[in-house]
Parts: sequence; C-alpha cells; structure tokens
Amino acid sequence: MKGVFITFEGIEGSGKSTLSRMASEYLRQRGFSVVLTHEPGDTEAGRELRRVLLDPHLKGMHPLTELLLYFADRSEHVHRVIAPALRRGEVVVCDRFSDSTISYQGYGRGIDLDVLRYIDGISRMGLRPDLTILLDLDVREGLRRNSLTEKRDRFEQEDMAFHERVRRGYLRIAGEEPERVKVVDASRPIEVVFNEIRPHLERAVRKQSTS
Ligand code: TMP
Repeated sequence: MKGVFITFEGIEGSGKSTLSRMASEYLRQRGFSVVLTHEPGDTEAGRELRRVLLDPHLKGMHPLTELLLYFADRSEHVHRVIAPALRRGEVVVCDRFSDSTISYQGYGRGIDLDVLRYIDGISRMGLRPDLTILLDLDVREGLRRNSLTEKRDRFEQEDMAFHERVRRGYLRIAGEEPERVKVVDASRPIEVVFNEIRPHLERAVRKQSTS
C-alpha cells in the first residue's frame, strides 16, 4: 500500500494520545494528509466494543472473550479506516495497535503468543506498521499520572504486576524488531519526548516519498 502507517504504544499514562496528536499535527504542517485514529473504538461498531471492553462491571470477562473482542475491533478498524487511508496514500497515525494485544493479552494475561499472533495476522489483513513509537515509562509513574484523571476502566483496576508484565512485553517486542519499534523514554517533559520522536517520523515519511 502507498501510505505510511505509524503506531504509538505504551502502558497507561505514557502520553500516547497527546504525542500521537502532536505527531499528526506536525505531519499535517509538513503537508501530509494524515488520519489520526486509535484502538479500541474508532469505528461505529468499535465504539460499542470499546464500551464493553472497558466496562468496570465486566471485570470477570474471560481472557479469550476479551481477546476476540479486541480482534473484532481491529478487523473493523483495518477494513474501514486504516487500509482505505493507506490505499489513498495517506499517513495513518494510530494510538495503539497489535503490539497492545501482544503485550496486554499475551504477556499480561498469559494467552499463548503463537495463537494470538496467528489471529492477529488475520484481523489486521497482514498490515504492519512502518514505524512504532514505544513510549516507555515506569509503571508506578504511569499509574500515578492516570490516577490524576480519575479514569478507572477494567485495565486500570489491574494490579502493578499485570502492568509490569505488559511493560516487559513491549520491551521484548522492541528487542525483537528494532528496525520498526523505537523505544523512547517517556518520563521526560512532553516537548523533549516529541523532539526525540520527530526524526523517526521524518524517516518514515521520507521512505514513502522515495518509494
Ligand atoms: P486506551 O486507554 O489507550 O484508549 O486503551 C484502552 C485499554 O485497552 C488500555 O488499557 C489497553 C487496552 N488494550 C488491550 O488490552 N489490548 C489491545 O489490543 C488494545 C488495542 C488495547
């Protein structure tokens, strides 16, 4: 596909939403047509799925049910939003994607990684991000930042050990795919973090203009 696919990943409170917004704004100012989107929940069906996935009253949902709902959201999102934008040659900036599923449902919940990767490949139609920014942050700090916003969904109710496993999962993915996944220390002020991300964005969009 002609476009460029960029994802932002990280634990709760790592600044993904703010930084993906800043990245989109930056690329728009550079003249690119950008679609800013997120998972779960950026389609009509996805909004319903997100409501179920994050409902604190559904704490006892089976991990496999949860996994399949994330894949349902991804399938809808890829078919309706991401793939069409990439076909049009646009830049897609997505707040969370497959690495979230591998880290949260795989490393966090303990679902078999081979099973997970197999179904993930189907739900994302084989699409892979060209660049992934992993915002790495101490779990305690991430949860502290989040507690300031009074957000208490199903994942924010998980214990520290769960979030530690998620963080380690992310770092493991980054170790396996250093070309695609760039790890950025998210403990610093947002402008400093963004300055470090900018050259990665430039490289990703340059690749598109020369291909
Ligand atoms: P958000 O708060 O970043 O919008 O994400 C909602 C929650 O969904 C967050 O706690 C991480 C979780 N999540 C997964 O567990 N697996 C996934 O595949 C995705 C996309 C998100």
